[in-house]
Amino acid sequence: MNKISDSILEEIQNCCDIAEIVSGYIPLKKAGRNFKANCPFHHEKTASFVVSPDKQIFHCFGCGAGGDVFSFIMKQERMDFPEAVRFLGEKVGVVVKKEENPSYPQAGSFTGSLYIVNELAEKYFQQNLLKPGDSLAELAMNYLENRGLNKTALECFNLGLAVDKWDGLLNFLQKNGISQELMLKSGLVVKNANGKVFDCFRNRIMFPICNSQGKRIGFGGRIWNTVSGVNSANQPKYINSPETEVYKKSKNLYGFNQSKKFIIDKDYCIVVEGYLDVIVPFEAGIKNIVASCGTAFTSDHARILKRYTHNLVIVFDSDPAGQEATLRSLDLLIEEGLNVKIAKLESGYDPDSYVRKYGGIKFQNLVDNASSLFDYKLNLLCLKLNKLVPEEKAKIAASMLETINKIKDAILRSSYIKKLSESLMVKEELLFSELKKIKSFPTGGVDISKVSIPKIYKMSKVAEKMLMSLMFEDGGFIKDLKQIVDYDEFSDPIAKKIVRHLYEQDLSECNPIELFKQIGDTQINSFICNLLVSDMGIDNKKKSFEDCVRKIKKDKIQLQLDALHQQINRLKQSESQELMSLLKQYNELKKEQNAYETVAKKES
Ligand code: CTP
Ligand code: MN
Repeated sequence: MNKISDSILEEIQNCCDIAEIVSGYIPLKKAGRNFKANCPFHHEKTASFVVSPDKQIFHCFGCGAGGDVFSFIMKQERMDFPEAVRFLGEKVGVVVKKEENPSYPQAGSFTGSLYIVNELAEKYFQQNLLKPGDSLAELAMNYLENRGLNKTALECFNLGLAVDKWDGLLNFLQKNGISQELMLKSGLVVKNANGKVFDCFRNRIMFPICNSQGKRIGFGGRIWNTVSGVNSANQPKYINSPETEVYKKSKNLYGFNQSKKFIIDKDYCIVVEGYLDVIVPFEAGIKNIVASCGTAFTSDHARILKRYTHNLVIVFDSDPAGQEATLRSLDLLIEEGLNVKIAKLESGYDPDSYVRKYGGIKFQNLVDNASSLFDYKLNLLCLKLNKLVPEEKAKIAASMLETINKIKDAILRSSYIKKLSESLMVKEELLFSELKKIKSFPTGGVDISKVSIPKIYKMSKVAEKMLMSLMFEDGGFIKDLKQIVDYDEFSDPIAKKIVRHLYEQDLSECNPIELFKQIGDTQINSFICNLLVSDMGIDNKKKSFEDCVRKIKKDKIQLQLDALHQQINRLKQSESQELMSLLKQYNELKKEQNAYETVAKKES
């Protein structure tokens, strides 16, 4: 059997977010940068199963199970490795051919070797920049200082220097035992038509590029020294590593490795264009920032970021030419379900120069005041076209509907339609019917019924357990609860049975031992035991009681909302009459749910 290529394994791994996969099996709770849950592989009462989206691994502190997304599936689905790879491949649309038999990547694998070559190169470039007493290194340092980069920034982003030689890196790699074949594969060394082999990057400031796991996969190199005798006039300002097995431009975001944890903390990500547009703001304290580096933002980029946040702020250079084209390309982010905002810089600036001129705080202000993609686009169109002229109004509507059409979430769509209708003073129904006319549904053959809906809220088992604890402790609560919560509103089937029994017996006091005898079911007994031994930490009984009731009511509504949401998403292309009525129902339920929240806020 053939071995499946490491790159396919990597591709699958890149597309599968372990937190998302695991949460398909067990409910995960956010705990700082990680997620926690009760371990699915052994019985436990307190969560000791941890999933790290950052490291893309899971680990159970209780039973010791752990590994990557493949090992999770192997254990959970009782599959062997090839089966698990195929299983996940299917989920994310990566085809693993039948005859290919995947095996775990070996330490000496090709992909692994490319990381090593890039790592060695980074070391070499860094040595060049930090060479004590070297006049060229000093000049380069001066250049970087003048661009506002301090030592910390250089170290954080591992900047280096490619000297003006044809074989500097070549010799260094050779000395470190790297074969010529591997050097060529890395793209750091190239071969010309005459068979001459030489360094690709010469006389450039070097920016190492990492993947999201921090592995070195390529470089960007910037011309800096135009007085060193080289003719740099017709040289591009930047050159980048060619695409290799490990470096795919459309899938990589510069700075992500450094900014990842800040993106999680802030729950949004600033997207800029260039290397220095990341480094300079980062140095000024704005650290949740990445760059797409010269290429357009792709849906692959979106998918990577989506594991960490759904909120993006794109910083536009002020260059007005092509703004509309860029805006159109951003529709794909909407298709990915991302919440996109746009911040615009004043004319003539990019983030790098802006921060150097005005400082980080002003840049942050700009980001804080970014407008939503929808508003931004509408504004732009209204500046260009006159919405009081019917033909132009129609043009604005058509263009905005194109964007709205990309929104998968029907609820969100309807709220944007509402906004548009207000701004253009056009009836919502009319916009809806125009929307229906946009024939080619842009999700490209995606089955709408499969389009993700917000995760079904986990019914609060904790609230249910607390209420039962309270009833066991104080029979008075049984009566109170019976007035306001039906036993059917409990989600746990065992809890349902116990509560029903308590209600029906009309008990004013609850004796658990007595209850065992009456119900006499081992599952129920163990449930009650569990309740009795676990300390629920209830201080204020009355308040806890009320909180739990609210939680149950709210969750029940949430389940209805989720069901409606699914129905709405299925209907969104069809009969607007029915859709409208569902949307109305949805909004009313949402109001009802919010009422529970308002009560809670008033009380606390
Ligand atoms: N870029 C690239 N290849 C090029 C030109 C640009 O990859 N030939 C990418 C780089 O990531 C660069 C970004 O696009 O950081 C922005 O390029 P540009 O606007 O030309 O940068 P400037 O702001 O003019 O220059 P500097 O990076 O020195 O600030
Ligand atoms: Mn710049």
